Amino acid sequence: MSKNSHDSAHTHVAGTSEFVDDRPIMRGELFMDVVYSTHAHAKFTLDYSEALKDEDVVAVYTAADVHHNVWGTIFKDQPLIAKDVVQYAGEAVALVVAKTTVAAQYAKQKVKVNYQDLPAVLSINDAKKHNSYIADKRFIERGDIKSAFAKAKHTLSGEVVIQGHDHFYLESQVAIAYPLEDGQVEVHSSSQHPTETQHVVAHCLGLDAKDVVVQVKRMGGGFGGKESQAAPIAAMAALGAIKLNRPVRLCLTKDDDMVMTGKRNPFQNLYKVAFDDDGVIDGLEVELFSDGGAYADLSTSIMERAMLHSDNAYFIPNMKVAGQVCKTNHHPHTAFRGFGGPKGVATAEIIIEKIAHHLGLDPLEVRNKNVYRDEDGRNITHYNQIVKNNCLPKLFEKIEKDCHYKKRRSEITKFNQESDEFVKGLSITPVKFGISFTTRFLNQANAMVIIHLDSTLQIATGATEMGQGVNARICAMVTSEMGLERSHARVMPTRTDKNANTSPTAASSGTDLNGAAALLAVRKIKHRLSEFASLLLELPEARWPSKTAGLGTEAEIAIKTRNLDSNDPNEGADWKSGKATYFGVEFKDGVVTCKGRSINFPDLIREAYLSRVSLSDYAHYSIPGIEFNKLEGSGNAFLYFTQGVACSEVTLNRDTGEVKVDQVDILMDLGRPVNLDLDVGQVSGAFIQGMGWVTTENLVYNDQGYLLSHAPSTYKIPNIQDTPRVFNIELLENDENYANVRGTKAVGEPPLLLAISTWTAINNALTYLPTYKDSYPEVRIPATSENVLRAMAPQAFSKWSTP
Ligand code: MTE
Ligand code: HPA
Ligand code: MOS
Repeated sequence: MSKNSHDSAHTHVAGTSEFVDDRPIMRGELFMDVVYSTHAHAKFTLDYSEALKDEDVVAVYTAADVHHNVWGTIFKDQPLIAKDVVQYAGEAVALVVAKTTVAAQYAKQKVKVNYQDLPAVLSINDAKKHNSYIADKRFIERGDIKSAFAKAKHTLSGEVVIQGHDHFYLESQVAIAYPLEDGQVEVHSSSQHPTETQHVVAHCLGLDAKDVVVQVKRMGGGFGGKESQAAPIAAMAALGAIKLNRPVRLCLTKDDDMVMTGKRNPFQNLYKVAFDDDGVIDGLEVELFSDGGAYADLSTSIMERAMLHSDNAYFIPNMKVAGQVCKTNHHPHTAFRGFGGPKGVATAEIIIEKIAHHLGLDPLEVRNKNVYRDEDGRNITHYNQIVKNNCLPKLFEKIEKDCHYKKRRSEITKFNQESDEFVKGLSITPVKFGISFTTRFLNQANAMVIIHLDSTLQIATGATEMGQGVNARICAMVTSEMGLERSHARVMPTRTDKNANTSPTAASSGTDLNGAAALLAVRKIKHRLSEFASLLLELPEARWPSKTAGLGTEAEIAIKTRNLDSNDPNEGADWKSGKATYFGVEFKDGVVTCKGRSINFPDLIREAYLSRVSLSDYAHYSIPGIEFNKLEGSGNAFLYFTQGVACSEVTLNRDTGEVKVDQVDILMDLGRPVNLDLDVGQVSGAFIQGMGWVTTENLVYNDQGYLLSHAPSTYKIPNIQDTPRVFNIELLENDENYANVRGTKAVGEPPLLLAISTWTAINNALTYLPTYKDSYPEVRIPATSENVLRAMAPQAFSKWSTP
C-alpha cells in the first residue's frame, strides 16, 4: 500500500472488501423485495393472496404493518409504504419476504395492484399550470434590479432546461437488519447518513433510538443518492426483522433501484440579464424552478444551494433570485453531487456565453470582466458574503496561458471555416463552490480516538466511506499528528453506538468536519501524553513504571492536566507541519522526544498506561462563524469557497450530432491537500460524472412517469472511451486557507461543476453554424447527440418537438 493510496485499494483489487450484500448469509436469514407502483398517481388496492400461496414466501407487509408510516428529512411527508394512494411510479406499495431472493422476486410479480388513476403532474410546466408546489417560493435580492434594467444598454432573456441525472452508484440501495435480544435491532446499511437511518428505523418501527444500531462500513458509491434515500430501505428490512425475529436482507436490483429512487432534480430556469457594451453585467434576475418529485426529500435545501450559486464566479451588483420547488408525480428527487449548485452555475454560465455571442466577444473576455475581484468592492456575493481567499482571477489567467486558449481559439475558428463534416467548440468555465452545510446545525461532528496497549490506533467518526477516501484522509491527519505512519491506525466502521447525532457525509465536508473532530480528539490524548513524556523523560529509566515491577504504584507518574479543550483544529498548530506541540515534546517518526531525551512511541504508551493516563478520547467540533439569515437571504452561508476552472474542447459530428470531448484542462485551488492523489482522483471522477450529466445521460419516462431508461443498456454513463484523450489536472498552490482544518479545501463536489464547460463548449461549437449567426443555440442538459442534431437542423426536427 503506497502512502497516498485509498485505504481499501488493495482489498478492492483483491475482491475482499466487504459491502453490505457481501455479508455471509446468517442461519434463518430471509430476503425482502419491494412491490412498487407503476402508475404516477392513483388510488389502489392490493391482492397478494397468490403470492402467499408459494411455500417459500414467508410474509407480505403493507402500510398497515408500519408503526409510524411516515418519514422525511426536512418535512415528514412521505409514507414508508403507500396507503390507498400512490404518488409516483416506483413508490412502495408492499413488501414481500421469502426464503430466497428468487422466491421474493417471483412473489412480487404475483402481487396484484389495481389502480384507479388520478390526474398526474409530470413536468415543471404541468406543475406551474396546476400551482403544484412544495414549500413557499424563496427570494434572495441585492441592489436595485428595476433601475438596472431601466438603464441597461443591452438585455437578454431566456430559459435553461436541465434534466435529471441518475447516481448510478455500482452498489444499489441495500440493508440487512439483524434482530437482537430484548427488542433491539442492528442494521447494516449502505447509507451516507447513519444517524438519520437510525432515527427513521426507530420512528417507523416505534422503537427507541437506544434500541437501534446502524452500521455503515462502506458504500459502493453514494453521490448524494444515499443521503436520505437509504433510510427507508433500512426501515423496510428492519420491519421484516422485528416482525419475524429473523435477519432480513433487502438489496434492490439495479433496475428497481433506478425506477424507485429519486435523481438529481430537473430544473427549468428563467433569466433576464442587463449588461453594457463590454459585457459587464449590471443586473440579473433568475427564477429557478425545480422538479421536486412527489415528496419534499431534500429539494428545498437543494433549491437554496442553487440560489446561492446563481452568481457562480461573478460579481453582479443588482441581482434577484427566486426559487420554487415543484411538486410532481415523479420519484422524490434528492441530493446529487453539487446539490443544486450545478443548476445555478449552468444558468450563470450559459448567460455569459449568450452575452458574448450577442456582443461578438470571446466568452472568456466576458468572464474576466465579471469575475469576483478584490478591487472596488467587486468581491461580495448577492447574499452579502465577502469572497475571501479569492483565487479566481489568478486561475483564469493561468489556465488561459497553460492551455493555449487564444491559439486554440483561432485554430478552431479556422477549422470550423474549413470543415463541413465537423464543428468544434472551446469553453472555459469557473466554479466557486460554497463549503458548509447551508443547514447550520449539520455543521458539527464528533470523533473518538483509541490508542491500544500495543500503541496502534482506532478512529471512529460519523463520516461514511463511499469511495471518496474520507477514511484515508482522517487517518492521515490523526497519525501524522502523532508522528506515526498511516498504517499505525485504522478507521473503524461508522456506528451510531459510537458516534451519535452525526450529520450526513455530504456537502463535501466529510473530512472538514470529521477530520477536525478526530484531530481535536487525538490532540487531547497528545496533550496528556506530552505532559507525561516530559515527566517520564526526566526520570532515570530504572524508575520508569515498567521497570519497577511490583512497585508500580510508587513509580506512577501523575500528570496534572487532563483535558485540553478547543474547537479550533488549527489552534496551536505549526502551519508548516500542521502539528501542535505541548510541553516541548515532539512526536516524530514513531519516537517521542523531550529536551534531547527520547522514547519509542509504543514504549511511551505502555508507560502511560501503567501510570493510569487515559489513552482514548472523544471530541466534538462545530464550524464557527456561519451566520446566514435564511429569511433575509443574507450573511456568511459558507466557511470558505473551493474554486477552480476548466477548459473543454469538443468536436461535433455535423451528420450525426455525435459529441466527442477532445481535451479537458482543469486547474483547481484545493488549499493544502492531505492526500494529493485522492484529491486528483476526486477531481477526475467528479468531472467525468458531470460530463455524463451534460452529454449522454438521458432519463426517459413513459406517460405514467415510469422510468424507461432504468439500466445501463438505455442509460449511458461515460466509459473509458468517452474520457477526453487529453485530460490534464493541475492544482494551484494555496497555503493561505486558514479557515479550514490544516489549510485543506473540500474537493468532493466542486469539480463536477467544471463539466459545465463541456456543455458550454458544445453550445459554443453550434454558434459557428450559420443557423446561429443571430441567435443562441441553448441546447439543454443533457446535450445528447440527438439534442445536438436537433439543434443543428431545427427545421428538420420541428415536428418532433422535445417535451
Ligand atoms: N467519490 C466517490 N468515489 N463516491 C461517492 O459516492 N460522493 C461525492 C463525493 N465523492 C462520492 C465521491 C459526494 S456527493 C460528496 S458530498 C462527497 O464525496 C462526500 O464525501 P466528502 O465530504 O468526504 O468529500
Ligand atoms: N449539501 C448536501 N447535503 C445537505 C446540504 C448541503 O448543503 N444541506 C443539507 N443536506
Ligand atoms: Mo453530496 S450531494 O452532498 O452527498
